[in-house]
Amino acid sequence: MKCLIIGSGGREHALAWKIAQSPEISRLYIAPGNAGTSEVGKNIPIPADEIDSLLSFAEKERIDLTVVGPETPLAKGIVNLFQKKGLPIFGPNQAAAQLETSKIFAKKFMVRHRIPTAEFQVAASLSEGRSILEKWGGKPAVIKVDGLAAGKGVFICDTRPEKEAALKQIFSHKIFKSAGKKAIIEKKLNGEEVSLLAITDGKKYHSFPPAQDHKKIGENDLGPNTGGMGAVAPNPFLLPSVKRQVIQDMIAKTISGLAEEGITYQGILYAGLILTSEGPQLLEFNARFGDPETQAIIPLFEGDLLQLLLTTAQGNLLRTKPVFRKGSACSVVMTAAGYPGPYQKNQEISGLKTASELRNVLVFHAGTTKKGRKTLTSGGRVLNITGFGKNLTQAIANAYLGVSKINFAGAYFRRDIGQKALRQSGNHPKNLT
Ligand code: GLY
Repeated sequence: MKCLIIGSGGREHALAWKIAQSPEISRLYIAPGNAGTSEVGKNIPIPADEIDSLLSFAEKERIDLTVVGPETPLAKGIVNLFQKKGLPIFGPNQAAAQLETSKIFAKKFMVRHRIPTAEFQVAASLSEGRSILEKWGGKPAVIKVDGLAAGKGVFICDTRPEKEAALKQIFSHKIFKSAGKKAIIEKKLNGEEVSLLAITDGKKYHSFPPAQDHKKIGENDLGPNTGGMGAVAPNPFLLPSVKRQVIQDMIAKTISGLAEEGITYQGILYAGLILTSEGPQLLEFNARFGDPETQAIIPLFEGDLLQLLLTTAQGNLLRTKPVFRKGSACSVVMTAAGYPGPYQKNQEISGLKTASELRNVLVFHAGTTKKGRKTLTSGGRVLNITGFGKNLTQAIANAYLGVSKINFAGAYFRRDIGQKALRQSGNHPKNLT
């Protein structure tokens, strides 16, 4: 079977690594991929958002399954395009992907289907934004641009100047262009965050082990937001009884709610939720595998990922639950100097082979490129080092052992990935597996 994976991050390397192990695979392509994906398949130099060129390639090579990693091609309608030509593709169509591509669509959907979420209002101008916030008094608020903003369109505002600055960036400076034509303003919720991913063919679904992302650049969750500095799975904050409730109240209701509205959701449904003192609330949907959550979840998956994704794309997800190994995984992101601002590129990376030969350590590339025999940095998030073990303590130790073997000028990583989860699992030792 020939498979094409679209994207170039750590998520796509993790997917490629696992799909390459399928007994059914004959050719594996990644477009555009990175230095790591070129070791498990063949990189094709087509950017992830050039959906017409990707279609031509898939038709020419008679690809049996295309797997979409990032959100941009979903927003552009790559799934509709491939399906029209009868080419199997894993991911939601443009209408279904609105759960991620429009925050307003997602919030209104949650309200229509009584999915627990924070109270919100929509603003289309600076003055509307100010008047909503004025009515709410001095309470902390979250301001999110409606469209896709590469993870940069969310402002968590505790003070009046922070709210004013966010509104000005969106409506006066228009830094998000058309993605920021409208924004939602919602009440800020407090609690631990959980990423719960489910795979669905539009009717049947299976959930994956819950994960926890670490979005801030600094230790103890300080500093600006990033694309994600590390993840652990399973996430011990989501107790099994609460997970069952979340699956009913959020995952199942979303899939059936979309179906009632004439939309079939096929792919990964990612629920980003927060565990508040009033119960779990849905913060956002993503219409794809999470990054870096995938780099922690996929190493725990024991089945044939190619088969799982193909049957889903064919609308025929098996009732048998996917099997995940017992134990935990921890993935630590190594970034380039300057990230999440303008960052340094073209630094030679050493120690990759030593790290990847360690037991229970996997090295997934993100912003890397090959130059002759050298591997150089080419992105802000450079590598994801995943460790696993029979418990979270071992998983964290293995991940950081891998990190310790790797070097490049200006390398940065958080030293506390998994520590909050570890404290929690100490409180509930039975909930880790
Ligand atoms: N980890 C957050 C995301 O994938 O958007």
